[in-house]
Amino acid sequence: MMKPVSYRTASSDEDLHQILALQQRNLEEGLSPREVRDQGFVTVRHDFALLRSMNDAAPHIIAVSDGQVVGYALVMLRSFRDRIPILQPMFATLGRLTYRERPVNGYHYCIMGQVCIDKPWRGQGVFGGLYQALRRHYSEEYDLVITEVAQRNGRSIRAHEKVGFELLHRYPAADGEVWDLILWDWQK
Ligand SMILES: CC(C)(COP(=O)(O)OP(=O)(O)OC[C@H]1O[C@@H](n2cnc3c(N)ncnc32)[C@H](O)[C@@H]1OP(=O)(O)O)[C@@H](O)C(=O)NCCC(=O)NCCS
Repeated sequence: MMKPVSYRTASSDEDLHQILALQQRNLEEGLSPREVRDQGFVTVRHDFALLRSMNDAAPHIIAVSDGQVVGYALVMLRSFRDRIPILQPMFATLGRLTYRERPVNGYHYCIMGQVCIDKPWRGQGVFGGLYQALRRHYSEEYDLVITEVAQRNGRSIRAHEKVGFELLHRYPAADGEVWDLILWDWQK
């Protein structure tokens, strides 16, 4: 029987260090091709200073069990667009898109910058729990949350569909990776 999980915003340096440790274990470079295919992977590596300034601007959501961070959803405001070079094509693309016949940039939205769940905790509702906590915390301020998932991360694509995300746009990056830009409309 797994211990109970609670959801809250990240607040201490210890929370942020635990997020980075979980991120480190799920970077593609450290995983086998089979693991990448079946379990998913993360792409962006944040350094502590960046993670903390993102958290100061808009706190990340964490799932905690027995004092350990077992999952996280990182929040990134649009003002961080120049701080993570790998995400610039995403912001450039968003600037050209419409959603429900209005420019995406005309909505109040935040970016969910990365989601990850520690392996023993996958498939147990923690993903949905993180996103419900994100919605509770941010839906008064934002109409939408937007994120992007590599198309070959089938597990993450499916998990996002179950929460209610819809496909906004699919595009290939310069390195050939195909990204699905997806959004969850909190006004629905
Ligand atoms: C991606 C991740 C956050 C999803 O959380 P999770 O707890 O595993 O998600 P869930 O089990 O609730 O949902 C996964 C769904 O995908 C399905 N699935 C599993 N492996 C799959 C695969 N290789 N391809 C397609 N679908 C897959 C599952 O069956 C499930 O759908 P179902 O409930 O309809 O059966 C988690 O697996 C993870 O942290 N992976 C490593 C890091 C990562 O990929 N992060 C996302 C970066 S965008």
